[in-house]
Amino acid sequence: MEFDTVIHGGQIATADFLFDGDIGICDGRIAAVAERLSGGTRRIDAGGRIVMPGGIEAHAHIAQESATGLMTADDYYSGSVSAAFGGNSSFIPFAAQHRGQSIEHVIETYDARAQRSVLDFSYHLIVSDPTEEVLAEQLPRAFKRGITSFKVFTTYDALVLPDAAMLDILTVARAHGAITMVHAENDGMVKWMNKQLAQRGLSAPKYHPVSRPEIAEEEAINRMIALAKLADAPLFIVHVSTAGGAEIVRREKAAGVKLFAETCPQYLALTRDDLDRDGMEGAKYICSPPLRDHATQEALWAHARSGTFESVSSDHAPYRFDDTGKFANGAHAAYPRIANGMPGIAARLPYLFSEGVAKGRITLEQFVALSSTNAAKTFGCTTKGRIAPGMDADIAIWNPETRKTLRASDQHDNMDYSPFEGMEMTGAPEIVMNRGDCIVEHGVLKATEGRGRFIRRAPADLRARPGYAAKEFDPAQNFGAVLR
Ligand code: URP
Ligand code: ZN
Ligand code: ZN
Ligand code: ZN
Repeated sequence: MEFDTVIHGGQIATADFLFDGDIGICDGRIAAVAERLSGGTRRIDAGGRIVMPGGIEAHAHIAQESATGLMTADDYYSGSVSAAFGGNSSFIPFAAQHRGQSIEHVIETYDARAQRSVLDFSYHLIVSDPTEEVLAEQLPRAFKRGITSFKVFTTYDALVLPDAAMLDILTVARAHGAITMVHAENDGMVKWMNKQLAQRGLSAPKYHPVSRPEIAEEEAINRMIALAKLADAPLFIVHVSTAGGAEIVRREKAAGVKLFAETCPQYLALTRDDLDRDGMEGAKYICSPPLRDHATQEALWAHARSGTFESVSSDHAPYRFDDTGKFANGAHAAYPRIANGMPGIAARLPYLFSEGVAKGRITLEQFVALSSTNAAKTFGCTTKGRIAPGMDADIAIWNPETRKTLRASDQHDNMDYSPFEGMEMTGAPEIVMNRGDCIVEHGVLKATEGRGRFIRRAPADLRARPGYAAKEFDPAQNFGAVLR
């Protein structure tokens, strides 16, 4: 067979095992994996390098207006370029429904924005207005287009949904084989804390974590799992930031619940002390759920290692440290009026490799699983996330020896800061491919704007897993064929 490209002499890393071998690529797909492959119009020497499935970023806010109308600093061009420099071959940002909008309108809007992507992309839909029409017609249509994940929020005035609406969405998701994702924080607790702090005039960035206590996340995770159990529907908990929340996930997974979860580098790398800086510097570290403490970091690493988390995702939510972003409501705005979120789409894999693999906290196989393979499985990207014949040639060639100090200016995003600024990183991607095209090569962007393609996702095969059944109500029995 004549290959377009042969990557030879590298250590191939998959989620299951490591082996020395070559990869032959033809027409954008992996055509062969073998100990030795000859030929190849182009031969890439991967000696001393790790060859792995390119990262799949499953949590990013790109060209997304927040509920208050603030646009993220990154669009699909800068966001995908930054993702690629960070070792990703594809990504799944959110397409957010604002109340009153149809899902069709949302998808059209994001389809137009995503025309600029250099990487393959899909969307998770954010559902904030689950009308009868949305539930009965629009979500099923989105699902048929290959958008097989719906995200809901338990907090934020413009997004929060009552429990009954959660059950409606979980039930629609279940009927089609979609997965419901949730941002879990108890809204009432946050509101009450905000009021207590405001009454005392405590408005500096460092009070943001105080206002969103760990127990608020734990309560909402617990409640959402209960709702998902009643509906017997799969649930994905995004950005788990607490040891308590992770422990609930571990326990419920062990009990057989169709449950999936992620954490993010910021919860592993940073603490709430980072918000206690001079002036408004702390605003750079405002994200929700908030940063916690050192003990939490250790607990979250342990959960990453032991399989509580499918993925480590960036939650890239880029708002610049100026009046277009963090300070859109004024340079001295109280913490509740400062944009939530931080960038990190380019830092995710380097961080996870450096602090995880190089420091012995996770294995190389786990790095592959947490950064790519599990996201593909969970979210139905059937041609991605694995090194095997027939799969897309989405590949990152990684130099495990590179040492670099992380700089915001090297992130290739539209941001003016990085929360990981100054961190010493071991290991970096040298070549990143998407469907056999080199997107980034030795620090140079090779891709043209708009080459990325929409990933039509499959339902993850979750309905087949045995789940929980409430004694009084089994959706499979009571709703019968409708849900089968
Ligand atoms: O603070 C964050 N994470 N902002 C982005 C939106 C979200 O809640 O994921
Ligand atoms: Zn080279
Ligand atoms: Zn969130
Ligand atoms: Zn997010």
